[in-house]
Amino acid sequence: MSDSIPKYVGPKPTDRVLTRDEVKARFDQETAAAYSQQDPIYLPDYASALALVIEALCAALPDEPTILDLGAGTGNLARRVLGAIPNSYVTLIDFSLNMLSEAPDVLADFKGRYNTICEDFFAFDMPPATFDGIVSSFAIHHARGRAEYGRLYQRIRSWLKPGMVFACCDVVAGSNQQWTAMNEAGWQQHLRAAEFDDATIAHIFANYRVEDTPISLPEHLTLLREAGFAHVDVLWKKHNFAVYCAQK
Ligand SMILES: C[S@@+](CC[C@H](N)C(=O)[O-])C[C@H]1O[C@@H](n2cnc3c(N)ncnc32)[C@H](O)[C@@H]1O
Repeated sequence: MSDSIPKYVGPKPTDRVLTRDEVKARFDQETAAAYSQQDPIYLPDYASALALVIEALCAALPDEPTILDLGAGTGNLARRVLGAIPNSYVTLIDFSLNMLSEAPDVLADFKGRYNTICEDFFAFDMPPATFDGIVSSFAIHHARGRAEYGRLYQRIRSWLKPGMVFACCDVVAGSNQQWTAMNEAGWQQHLRAAEFDDATIAHIFANYRVEDTPISLPEHLTLLREAGFAHVDVLWKKHNFAVYCAQK
């Protein structure tokens, strides 16, 4: 790994899942620059998976679309949206000012085409039918429990204009413990192949256990349908990572 890549630190180990305030505190302390890598090697097929999120939106987009990026962090996904969709305007929402503070650098080529909102996306509300597309990468997995995912999907649907698309790339659980273990073993293999040492892999997994509470793809699709989306789909899956989408 290059020494020039800022180090990912992650949360302090605990014997329980982190609360929302602890997740926020961790991202407020994290080296935000560590998240601005073009292609982080610890996630499989990162660039092509994010490209699929954007392609999914293009199933239904007007000219000059307004797009919401949930848990936008330093702007990794927003940069790709702005680069790929001409005349798009992106609203980045994230509850960590530290992470958002990196966005002006990451989005330097797109001045005047984005704004940032520092809020908790599980609590903040927006007027109905505001956006032509909603995206998210590696953020929604902070929902704690099925009911919280479901409430978020209902709000996402309400913020979309009719016919528009929500697309997400994130970690997912398996539908049973065996498949979850198999998926996680696949991620471990990916990390080994990327030449992470055992201690770093153990650190990444320890962070994952206390911070992320993913649900399975079938559960996501059910909750999206229950929230009232007309069409739901899975566009890609590898190990415990997936891209899924829903059209209002
Ligand atoms: C792993 S980072 C991913 C950032 C970015 N989407 C990317 O792919 O690089 C997760 C981001 O979600 C944000 N986040 C987590 N829970 C949040 C919440 N409830 N409301 C707003 N932002 C949240 C964190 O602050 C962090 O910036």
